[in-house]
Amino acid sequence: MPLSLFTRNRKALLSRCQDDYATKMRLKYAPYYHAMEAQTGTNVRLNGRDMIMLSSNDYLGLSFHPKVIEAGQAAMSKWGTSTTGARTSNGSRFYHVELEEKLAEFLGREACHIHVAGYLSCLSSVAAFAQKGDLILADKNIHSCLWDGIRLSMATVERFSHNSPEDLRNVLTSLGSEAAKMMVIEGVYSMEGHIARLPELTEIAEEHGCFTVLDDAHGFGVLGRRGRGTADHFNLNDKVDVVCGSMSKSLASTGGFIAASREIIEYLRSHSKQTIFSAAISPSQAAIAQTSLQIMQQEPQHLEKLWANTRRYRAMLKSLGLDTWESETPAVPIVLGSKERVYLFWRALMEKGVFTVMSIAPAVPAGKDLVRTAISAMHTEEQFERIAEAMAYAVRKL
Ligand SMILES: Cc1ncc(COP(=O)(O)O)c(C=O)c1O
Repeated sequence: MPLSLFTRNRKALLSRCQDDYATKMRLKYAPYYHAMEAQTGTNVRLNGRDMIMLSSNDYLGLSFHPKVIEAGQAAMSKWGTSTTGARTSNGSRFYHVELEEKLAEFLGREACHIHVAGYLSCLSSVAAFAQKGDLILADKNIHSCLWDGIRLSMATVERFSHNSPEDLRNVLTSLGSEAAKMMVIEGVYSMEGHIARLPELTEIAEEHGCFTVLDDAHGFGVLGRRGRGTADHFNLNDKVDVVCGSMSKSLASTGGFIAASREIIEYLRSHSKQTIFSAAISPSQAAIAQTSLQIMQQEPQHLEKLWANTRRYRAMLKSLGLDTWESETPAVPIVLGSKERVYLFWRALMEKGVFTVMSIAPAVPAGKDLVRTAISAMHTEEQFERIAEAMAYAVRKL
């Protein structure tokens, strides 16, 4: 290849990075990538100021549980920091298998596989099973990792309206396709806080022979008996083929899981590139998740507190006339409808010491620009009083 051509290509990519509008705006308004200097529970320190964390996904508040911390430390002392290898080759350890067995048992499944990120688990829950020529029916509001899985699978995709069994039925009927089919949905939608209409959706999926993939990153730990998730909440475990999720939320670790029948998990281990070629999760990651799982079953008070906090918080937002998009869960959006209003509201909350996250179109549907908040079992009465004051102040700033 002539050198001049090589140089021209390289510069085109460099200038793409240098001129990028989204990056320039992000750096100008600095809403993301805030590095906190310290954290204890839901208290964080940012730029020397103490703030309340109101947007983490530590739903059960286990990230500072003494037993969880101790388990993470002990695992590192015993096993070192990392296996530095993929499960397929040199990276499998007894503690991986143990965690998979415990997760599978908890979720009422035969088998489970864990990955270094929920993103990888959920992506491969789609990409490993669907292929070119198949038809995927996807709720139009699913998470980016599922869209990536869909793209990688090379299957044809049809979107249906968010959480709408009626539209799912229409799409399936109008297509009348003979292809192998998959339905991809979330249990609890992370931006909206909506619970999937699983009974109706799975009934239609069954009628049309759809393999059902449920991303329960935000339902796990939050819904169902002792936090068994959305399928358990509806008592519909047998209608869902694959449940995937994240260990970075209720399990207070990092990583992800896929739970299903043994034959599905063994197929995944043969065919999923993300499973075969990515390193195993670290000893402390696994021990933290396993201990959190045990605590979820032994200490129901965290789940009870989470829901008590959620009800209290939602009532407070309602009294201020804020639109929470009919959220039914601890993931509570405050819909403000435009990026300008979101920015004003978010900045006012920051000023008052409450940390939240802005989410604007295209990350959310146009007109649904929002400030994402999420409740933890760790939020205290005193923090709720400060949050209420900050919310009232932010409303006045609009
Ligand atoms: C619905 C959903 N699926 C998957 C993921 C990815 O999980 P992780 O952050 O553990 O990679 C997330 C995280 O934001 C999520 O919200």
